[in-house]
Amino acid sequence: MVPLKRRKVVSSISTEDINRFPNVVIFLLVRKMGESRRAFLSQLGRKKGFQVEDSFSDLVTHVVSENNTGEEVRMWLRSQQKDKALTAQLLDMSWYTESMRAGCPVQILDRHKLQDEESVKEESVVEFSVPTYACQRRTTSDDHNSKLTDALTLLAENAELNNEDGRAVAFRRAAAVLKALPETVTSMTQLRRLPCLGEHSQRVIKDIIEDGVSGEVESTRHSERFKALKCLTGIFGVGAKTADRWFREGIQTLEHLVVSEHELNRAQQAGLEHYDDLNQPVTKAEALKIGDIVKRALLNVLPGCEMTLTGGFRRGKMTGHDVDFLITHPDEGKEVGLMPKVVSWLTAQGVLLYEKTTRSSFLVSENGPAQPPSNMDRFERCFSIFKLEKEKMDSVNAYPQTRYSGQITASNSHLVEANEMPNTHLPANKWRAVRVDLVVSPISQFPFALLGWTGSKLFERELRRWAGHVKSMSLSSHALYDNTQCKYLRATSEEEIFAHLGLEFIAPSDRNA
Ligand code: CTP
Ligand code: MN
Ligand code: MN
Repeated sequence: MVPLKRRKVVSSISTEDINRFPNVVIFLLVRKMGESRRAFLSQLGRKKGFQVEDSFSDLVTHVVSENNTGEEVRMWLRSQQKDKALTAQLLDMSWYTESMRAGCPVQILDRHKLQDEESVKEESVVEFSVPTYACQRRTTSDDHNSKLTDALTLLAENAELNNEDGRAVAFRRAAAVLKALPETVTSMTQLRRLPCLGEHSQRVIKDIIEDGVSGEVESTRHSERFKALKCLTGIFGVGAKTADRWFREGIQTLEHLVVSEHELNRAQQAGLEHYDDLNQPVTKAEALKIGDIVKRALLNVLPGCEMTLTGGFRRGKMTGHDVDFLITHPDEGKEVGLMPKVVSWLTAQGVLLYEKTTRSSFLVSENGPAQPPSNMDRFERCFSIFKLEKEKMDSVNAYPQTRYSGQITASNSHLVEANEMPNTHLPANKWRAVRVDLVVSPISQFPFALLGWTGSKLFERELRRWAGHVKSMSLSSHALYDNTQCKYLRATSEEEIFAHLGLEFIAPSDRNA
């Protein structure tokens, strides 16, 4: 303790212009403070016994500024090219005024220290938040994080090609979460509260945010195996298992495959023959044109049918890898046996380059819908490749625009006469091959089929997971079964199905998970 007497003595000299605190050499930055305020504050400090320097030097230990960020002050210091610039304390005016009031340098607290732009941003950072299941979220096709989602999707594809389904779904879920965000992610902090981002996905995201690329993604993208498997599974009819077997036999390209003289099935032969066309995205205009052809077929074989464009195009996408249609008839039972008739009409018109029709095999047992052996559904359906005339796309009136969904009646009978479709005689450069999926559903199952065939695939998967895990229900493209009440839940629209599932209705354009 300093004796009272002596303390008085000390305080009596405290107004003298000497440095009472030899470890503290202050410099006030004029930037944003102004010369006169700086002069006034410097004088005040000196009066209280602080050493306040007029110019910056290596002696300075405390740099005080007003309304500057740490980054701004650091930039100014770097321009001074003094070693001290690296070690001096960068303080806010609050430290200086509090020290003046206290008559001595107050302890430096966090709030006195200047923050970096970076950490200022982090403080005001919006932490994104989304619900866990993709079917609880709205996901438009407007992806603000495509750099990240493309990377995660590539890793998902790679996992699928390696038969690692669990991993693949984890990457797809992570990508889906990022697709649902309203803005581009700029820091990991923003992701703190998001679901479905596992350690691996986070590592990839971090690398891309911080370095612009992920080493793992790039080395996968350029690996021999990935490139070969992508090329081989790009053949319609070739799945991951076949591609992997061929790759292990040394087949990496289409040329290798042709030379190998491997026996190909009908689908694969067609896939190889139309490889380029089938790997070129289908446009919305082409989808609508194919819709008109299918309507014409329906009008000829069973008037009164209803046809709906499903898949990615129903979700508002502008391109797709194929075109998907769902067909039904308002009189239950009339749709039975429809597909073979449609197919033979299309065949007669020279429209089909390939088709494989599967008969309906849906069974309903007392205990609920029979579980299919795979997650394939059991509608009457047709995987096909259409031969689509090219040049008519450009002439506006060649195909009157029709609604691509709804009942086919005499009112759109122009479809019948519109074209004789001389497809068999088209020169090679006048047409292209397009993958088309046709599905026929009885009207009683139509809402379930529509929901199931609209996608996206992840959205569907999440709907079924939600139904099972959260609601104890089984959802398929045929029906919804309540395992607690042991009964089917009827629905006449997609809206009713969402309501049964206790979910807010998500419009097709918001199902792009
Ligand atoms: N689907 C299905 N059973 C299959 C194949 C597909 O139920 N054997 C469903 C998918 O779940 C998806 C919809 O059909 O909901 C469309 O599938 P697909 O055409 O593969 O995907 P799209 O979302 O249409 O994407 P793209 O635009 O690339 O065609
Ligand atoms: Mn599709
Ligand atoms: Mn499809």
